[in-house]
Order: sequence, then structure tokens, then C-alpha cells
Amino acid sequence: MSRKTKIMGIGSYLPKKVVSNEDLTKILDTSDEWIQSRSGIQQRHQAAEGETTSDLAIEAAQAALANAKLSPADIDLIIVATTTPDLTFPATAALVQKKLGMRHGAAFDVQAVCSGFVYGLSVASAMLETGQATRALLIGAETMTRLLDMKDRSTAVLFGDGAGAVVLEAVDVAPDGLDTASHVIGSYLRSDGELSDILYVDGGPSTTGTTGHLRMQGREVYRHAVGNISDAINTLLQQSDMTIADVDWFVPHQANKRIIDGVAKKIGLPIEKTVVTIHQHANTSAASIPLALCQIVQEGKVRSGDIVMLEAMGGGLTWGANLIRW
Ligand code: ACO
Repeated sequence: MSRKTKIMGIGSYLPKKVVSNEDLTKILDTSDEWIQSRSGIQQRHQAAEGETTSDLAIEAAQAALANAKLSPADIDLIIVATTTPDLTFPATAALVQKKLGMRHGAAFDVQAVCSGFVYGLSVASAMLETGQATRALLIGAETMTRLLDMKDRSTAVLFGDGAGAVVLEAVDVAPDGLDTASHVIGSYLRSDGELSDILYVDGGPSTTGTTGHLRMQGREVYRHAVGNISDAINTLLQQSDMTIADVDWFVPHQANKRIIDGVAKKIGLPIEKTVVTIHQHANTSAASIPLALCQIVQEGKVRSGDIVMLEAMGGGLTWGANLIRW
């Protein structure tokens, strides 16, 4: 028997307020045509005043628990992937733990910006598979609009808020069951801190003492995205003895429709297998993958046994991929 990680439930949450591209033209020198043609974005959700990342996270977590037919008492690990925590500390995961009424288990945040969910799934799987936990809540939750400089039109139009969550469980799989059992097949993570200055926030506790604003050299980020992501996907497929033809669903981080199309083309994946939600959600950083995954699961598109590939690249730079048998 080998110990594997199985996804038991999934849920998501989007704040009520929707901001269209047209709405942004009232406060910025921009146009719906520019935003859609450069990024694919039509609208984004925005957290209400006073609504925090842990508020979004808890909604997604409760939906995922209900979907898994489990309660907080069944969970012994909470990981929140976020770059927009409620507070510098404690971790947003600890605040989620409090809101769930849990006083057992462990809770911490993963900070890998837009790659946070991919990193989080790798870390959670490793902990479950080595017996450090039995059931985990992995949540990607962000209030990215709080990091935006609304005078910087090149970044202000690209991001949105939201949360998505999965419930994970350690399961024992017989060697001859690995080709059929639902489980996380593997993960591949990378980073390159030399590129930390092309996508960052210009504030923090030990520098300015302020939260700061998101800064991005869009062209440079774009230049690295397609190559890095394609390499990660190909490496993970190779490590898993699979090819791109085995992939049924490709759930990329939703940063830019042109990046998604570029990656799908480079790895040779038909666009019908690619999940795109950026037009509705914009870039919700660590929340974008679970939001997109939840959407296709709720639409009944993902069948038991389907191979699902997740990938992301974000500030750090960080990037990586996960492969799941659903
Ligand atoms: N509306 C209208 N015009 C604009 C806007 C806007 N919102 N923003 C910029 N422009 C203008 C610029 O000022 C520039 O004008 P100029 O030529 O007169 O100077 C022109 O549009 C072109 O600007 P570029 O930045 O060169 O536009 P580009 O075609 O590269 O598209 C974009 C910009 C969409 C940001 C693209 O570079 C991109 O997608 N980059 C990657 C973003 C990404 O992947 N982010 C994910 C990581 S996010 C994370 O990890 C948190």
C-alpha cells in the first residue's frame, strides 16, 4: 500500500460586488477594448469594505467541507495560500481555524503569490503522505484589489478578489490501484529569486512599514511565463510517466488569456481541454486555480478518473504544476 492524497470536496466564493471594465474607465484612462484584447478580462469581483481574505476563505472552506460531507472536527491541517493576509501575523490560516471553531491540528499560510495553490497542494500532499496529518483544508484566498495602485492603469485593471478551497485526505492505495484510484499524482515546484524585481509589492513590515502596492514589469513577466510554465508541465508529465495526450483537463492560473493560449499551444494541448475563467474573475492570484477547478467540477465536466493538470507562475518568480487523477 502507498499513502496518497485524495481530493474529497471542493468549494469557492466570490464577493458580491462586480466591477466591469466599463466601470474602470470612469476612474482610469483605459478602455474595455484594451483590457479585453491584452488580457481577456471582462470583469472582476471586489471584496466589500471590511470584508477580509479570511472572510472569503471561510466561505470557500465551508462550501468545500459541505461538498466533502465533513466537518471542522474531521480536519487536522489548514493551509491558506495567500499574498494578501488579513494581518502581517497571525497567519490567515489561524484566523480561518478560529472562525471554524477548531482548537486542534495545525494551521499556516503559504506565500508563493499566484503559485500559492500549486505550492500549497504540494506541501499539503507531502504532509498527508508522510503521516503528519490525516485531512487538510487547502484554501487559495485573495483580496488582490487591496494591493492595487488605482493610479497605475497597467496593473489596476488586471486583478480581482475571491477564494477556492479543497478538502484533502490521506488514503492508502494498493500498487495495482494507482492507475485507477483518485489521488494527487505529483507536483513540481520552481522559483528564481533573481527575478524578484519584475513582479513585487513595494512595501512590507521590515522595509517601509506599510502594505505597499503591486508593481509589475508586464512585458518581462509575460516573457518568462510561457517558457517556465511549459517546462514545469513537461517535467511533471515526464516524472509521472505520462504525456500531454493523457491530460483531460488543463486548469491554468488565470493571469492572462494570451499566456494561457500560449502555454496550451506550446505544450500541444487542445483549447477545449483548457479551463478559462479570467473573463469573469480576472487574476485572483492563489485563488484562481481552485475557483476555475470548482467551476468545472460543479458543471459536472470532470469525471472520476480524469487526469487534471494545474499550473501557475507568480511573483518570486515562483512557478510549478500539479497532476491529479480525479
Ligand atoms: N489601458 C490602456 N492602455 C494601457 C493600459 C490600460 N489599462 N495599461 C497600459 N497601457 C498602455 C501603456 O501605457 C503602453 O502605452 P505606450 O505604448 O503609449 O507607452 C501600451 O498600453 C502598451 O503597454 P504594455 O505594457 O507594453 O502592454 P502589453 O501589450 O505588454 O500588455 C500586460 C500588458 C497585459 C500587463 C502584459 O504585459 C501581461 O499580461 N503581462 C503578464 C502579466 C502576468 O502574467 N501577470 C501574472 C503574474 S501576477 C502575480 O503573480 C501577482
